[in-house]
Amino acid sequence: MRPKVIAGNWKMHHGPAATRRFFSKFFGEFSPRLSGAEPTILIFPPAISLLAAAESKGGRPEISLGIQNIHWEPKGAFTGEHSVGMALAAGARFALVGHSERRHVFGETDAQVESKVAAAMREGLTPVVCVGETLDERRDSRVQEVIVRQLDAALLGVPEDVKNSILVAYEPVWAIGTGETATVDDVADAHGILRRRLREVRGDAFAQEVAILYGGSVKPANAAELLAVADVDGVLVGGASLDPESFARIVESG
Ligand code: 13P
Repeated sequence: MRPKVIAGNWKMHHGPAATRRFFSKFFGEFSPRLSGAEPTILIFPPAISLLAAAESKGGRPEISLGIQNIHWEPKGAFTGEHSVGMALAAGARFALVGHSERRHVFGETDAQVESKVAAAMREGLTPVVCVGETLDERRDSRVQEVIVRQLDAALLGVPEDVKNSILVAYEPVWAIGTGETATVDDVADAHGILRRRLREVRGDAFAQEVAILYGGSVKPANAAELLAVADVDGVLVGGASLDPESFARIVESG
């Protein structure tokens, strides 16, 4: 069985000082289990807080850090962007790619998602590829078409002989930051579609390795129910990951 992954996307919250405060409180709230069945914890702070996060987390092996966005070029005149190499040097091991806010607020395209996945894989940063439909697309019964198209584009960036895997996050756009959570049936359907597509495109062994996370208004009260759904290998938490206590409660559900 894949260990559960509990990921927190802080979006544009928590600068370096708030990041240090988060970790000292989180470590007070969360004690690793002795059973060995630990969930994997991923935290995606703003890029400017990565070093503070890396220092604060110290040697805790159950926690890894990620960057919320990367550029596909290794360096150059790209004001405001961060390369994969810079993210690695600042302590990131994962990168969100194609988050719905990148796609819908900043106009990120499927082709850019492919380039970012390829750059991350080339240099050893594990991409967490985000896919999800808007409310209009759901109402038009286009969920499968949209998430398969987004997944296929991302998979074009994954080399055939890949050693390290990717993660996928299903985040229906209408459930992000709205308090609306997809029903367990909606989540099971979407995750089943994604798992089948991974199998069709890359074969069974690859599909089995990929953790598929659900994101969209996950909180302590609904995390356990969502984590029990078939093909849900973890959660990607926005708002409720900012508070160390509520994030610790979600981690304990994993
Ligand atoms: P919320 O948990 O705030 O709905 O955000 C979800 C999200 O976008 C995580 O990446």
